[in-house]
Amino acid sequence: MKPWETLESAQVPGVGDVALARRGDEFVLRVRGQTLMSSRMHGSEEALAEAGCADLVSRGTGRVLVGGLGFGYTTRAVLDRVGPGVRVTVAELLPVVVAWNKGPWLAPLAGAPLEDARVTVVEGDVGALMAKSPTAFDVILLDVDNGPTALTQPGNRGLYGPNGLARAAQALRSGGTLGVWSAGPSPEFERRLEKAGFTVQVLQPHAHGNKGPRHTLFIAKRRR
Ligand SMILES: C[S@@+](CC[C@H](N)C(=O)[O-])C[C@H]1O[C@@H](n2cnc3c(N)ncnc32)[C@H](O)[C@@H]1O
Repeated sequence: MKPWETLESAQVPGVGDVALARRGDEFVLRVRGQTLMSSRMHGSEEALAEAGCADLVSRGTGRVLVGGLGFGYTTRAVLDRVGPGVRVTVAELLPVVVAWNKGPWLAPLAGAPLEDARVTVVEGDVGALMAKSPTAFDVILLDVDNGPTALTQPGNRGLYGPNGLARAAQALRSGGTLGVWSAGPSPEFERRLEKAGFTVQVLQPHAHGNKGPRHTLFIAKRRR
């Protein structure tokens, strides 16, 4: 088997070593040596966009917040589904990830979503952006961790607790949708979403087409 080749790496203050590596046509993003994502399977990242934006498809306008960028698959899937009047904000914590998405390795993976005129990128914490954006969004899609209980950044814990969910609800317009990606189920998180004023649907798409492991999507509609 071919060895992994490190293409790019950076020391990010407060985060540590972040690296982009390739083996054949597979790319991985690593944070402190742990794989945060791979280009090999991204069906559930796209399913998050499809389920989360279902109400927007027939409307010409609206605002979507995607956190974080990763390799851009969720953002691309949003853009492919919504109309020309929809604006998409992408919040990404790591500026190097944004830079690499504009470069030769990552831009082609998801068809260069950052070049779409509907997209604005905000470099920073998606939680902080939600906190300063009351009733701003019709849809918020969160794929920043391996799930509500499997964090990639210690600071992300707050996104999934009662205060974080209240902040997400406040950032949504009435009837808006919060979609959360997770590697596995969490009945406890489902209950928390219900308590925070959401009606929850749980989906379990395959990681790739109709094969591979299943991931979990929490599609939570803010009650009116
Ligand atoms: C698993 S990847 C996202 C994959 C993405 N859905 C895709 O389709 O390519 C997680 C991303 O979230 C970013 N991230 C982690 N915590 C964040 C936060 N609090 N705010 C914004 N982005 C964050 C990471 O740097 C990483 O780029």
